[in-house]
Amino acid sequence: MKTSVILTTLSCSLLIGLLSSCSGTKQESTTMEKSLYGKTAEGTEVFLYTLRNKHGMEARITNYGGTVVSLLVPDRDGKLADVVLGFDSLASYIADSPYFGSIIGRYGNRIGKGNFDLNGVKYTLAINNGANHLHGGLKGFDKVAWIVDERESKAGKVLVLNYLSKDGEEEYPGSLSVKVVYSMTDSNELKIEYSATTDKPTVVNLTHHSYFNLAGAGNGNILDHELFIDADRFTPVDPGLIPTGELKSVRGTPLDFITPTLIGARINDVYDQVKVGGGYDHNWVLNKPANVLGIAARAYEKTSGRVMEVLTTEPGLQFYSGNFLNGTHVGKGGRKYDHRYGFCLETQHFPDSPNKPQFPTTVLNPGQTLTSTTVYRFSVK
Ligand code: GLA
Repeated sequence: MKTSVILTTLSCSLLIGLLSSCSGTKQESTTMEKSLYGKTAEGTEVFLYTLRNKHGMEARITNYGGTVVSLLVPDRDGKLADVVLGFDSLASYIADSPYFGSIIGRYGNRIGKGNFDLNGVKYTLAINNGANHLHGGLKGFDKVAWIVDERESKAGKVLVLNYLSKDGEEEYPGSLSVKVVYSMTDSNELKIEYSATTDKPTVVNLTHHSYFNLAGAGNGNILDHELFIDADRFTPVDPGLIPTGELKSVRGTPLDFITPTLIGARINDVYDQVKVGGGYDHNWVLNKPANVLGIAARAYEKTSGRVMEVLTTEPGLQFYSGNFLNGTHVGKGGRKYDHRYGFCLETQHFPDSPNKPQFPTTVLNPGQTLTSTTVYRFSVK
């Protein structure tokens, strides 16, 4: 049975909201609707939250994995299409998802050999990707039911998700309390705000793993998208996709997206880094100042006119061109997702930072609060 509640409360008091002045905060028209989505293997009920703005832009997000299940965005004629890959049912997400649309943690991307030292103690994590640790291990933040803060969510028409990752979960030290806030603005932005605290020193790298296709999920591959990445350097990787530690210039390589270029233009070039990645699967070192919300990337799909800009406070961006997709995942509407049918722009700290002291630190200590913001902003041209 579908339980359906419309949450339309304004973010300040109704009166102040009607006067449209809320301590300088702009009032957004976004509404949020809640419905039952299903049950996890443990029998926990999970829900689907639908955020919608006045242009009809709509995000459906489940608290299972903090997963964006669909994202309807207008094209240049105002026609909506779902621009993220995903499944029709919770069961499919639980059975086998290549992280479609999910929140990734405790550590987004790879940690070499699953080992790191912190304050003289050696930690050994699950090896779940070749010889390395990927995306938080066997049961990362993409595979847990997050707790929805209904009160805070209702007040702000935002979706507030909390998760307590206990000390020792997936062999990481410290109980980590994580909060992820999803919101949508009338400027067609999907905003994700992360925060976290810990009771023992630990390492954290949180990201979001939507696979985009601006022509619509399932509508062919993404090779004709034009991409701009505001980064002069990237972190080259070894055959296991672990950074070597070097920061290398993108100039003269197929990783140069300073000049907007089609994803497919150089993806099969004879260049060791694109060979090793099976295409693009690298971390770009963003040019914008660290900790400041600034532009990281922009993608444009010419048949629809859709443009997606990614803004972040993070220092890095993993651009992954869907190289591991091979048609085995049958997605929404029964469509198969073949090779490179979606691309990810994962804002992050650099992979394997716990083993690379020269990289921006991913250590979080008690008393500190990690904060991070990423915005996916849609427009047309
Ligand atoms: C990240 C990684 C890729 C791949 C995907 C998930 O983007 O960098 O290598 O593992 O996640 O399939």
